[in-house]
Amino acid sequence: MKSPLPPSFLFSKDVPAPCYLIDEEALCRNCAILEDIQRKTGVRILLALKAFACWSLFPVLSRAYQGVLWGTCASSVDEARLGREEFGGEVHVFSSGYDTASVLALCELVDTFSFNSIAQFRRFWPTITAFCAKTGRTIHAGIRINPEYTESTHAIYDPCDPSSRLGVRRRDFDEAVFAEGVSGLHCHTLCEQNADVLARTLTQVYAKFGSLLTRSSWVNLGGGHHITRDDYDRDCLCREIVRMQEYTNATVYLEPGEAVALESGWLSATVLDCVMADVWVVILDVSITCHMPDVLEMPYRPRVYYEDAGSICEAKAYDGQGVCVRLAGNSCLAGDVVPFLYSFSRLPCVGDRLLFADMAIYSMVKTTTFNGLRLPSIASFRGERLRLLRQFGYEDFKSRLS
Ligand SMILES: Cc1ncc(COP(=O)(O)O)c(C=O)c1O
Repeated sequence: MKSPLPPSFLFSKDVPAPCYLIDEEALCRNCAILEDIQRKTGVRILLALKAFACWSLFPVLSRAYQGVLWGTCASSVDEARLGREEFGGEVHVFSSGYDTASVLALCELVDTFSFNSIAQFRRFWPTITAFCAKTGRTIHAGIRINPEYTESTHAIYDPCDPSSRLGVRRRDFDEAVFAEGVSGLHCHTLCEQNADVLARTLTQVYAKFGSLLTRSSWVNLGGGHHITRDDYDRDCLCREIVRMQEYTNATVYLEPGEAVALESGWLSATVLDCVMADVWVVILDVSITCHMPDVLEMPYRPRVYYEDAGSICEAKAYDGQGVCVRLAGNSCLAGDVVPFLYSFSRLPCVGDRLLFADMAIYSMVKTTTFNGLRLPSIASFRGERLRLLRQFGYEDFKSRLS
């Protein structure tokens, strides 16, 4: 897979650090790929807000403005409100557990509820239909299914792990819900996967849930489709979408998060100190645990770039060559380090700028202010034109505590 180099102007001291730097042109390139799939198949693609909720840039993405996506999928009242207020289009919500207050609030905001259990559907559907009768709104209901088929290697990201609480297994599915008001099915099982995994998963879905699919007027195939990656088999995805449309006659939705903002964001950082432990440890003004928590959760080694003698270099995985470096954050946590070693052509110096790649997805939405560390600023750029969107201060730390 081809990995984009950071534009050289991002190393300039005029560009803020620490800062999430979102490349608007990269978002547009991703949208063009997604639009091509929508045009070829008629599928409707929603942005999963859990992955990317940088609302200043929603106009680039939403077809309510100059973008292409049909709307958003939310996991909570606040995400649904952001989708309704800032993105426009359709708002779909899935939660593994609703309560009465959240259902009442969501009724004002969403077009489609997906329920994680038949019991949750039966508990809340009367409230939703009463709301619709009073207000004239139309709200659809669906059930998330669990096809019990997985090719994932990470249980923490695998909704089909035997221990999973997510989605109704076929043995637990009561078809009577279609007569009670359910009109669609939701199926999310993938994580950063290619279309061949989707095809094999759908083979299981047809085998187990075929009779339910034919009663559905919409089918949501969830997220986890890495559609905008170079090696993604987009023809296969289109074939699977068309196959589902022909089988069900339903409106098919996808709700990717990562694919929308893949390779669209950099996190700038500055070297604060270098200390010698078992290897050189480079301490940065960003924290791995606060500002890129997936690096520890997954775990994975993010791509990192630096400048050496005016050239942009990638710090590769340490293989015995060059200077062996561990990158560390500036919190008190001993484990606030990238849990893989890097090889640099020289030891980084205090004041050097580093750029972490692909940090628009999940990192920005998962940040914390642990240790009182300030959140990185947020900026976007087109070419070399930078827009500083947000800076954070003491009030942001204080206002989420009391
Ligand atoms: C229900 C649901 N939809 C969509 C997504 C978005 O997935 P991704 O960002 O991997 O495309 C997720 C991710 O966890 C999810 O749980």
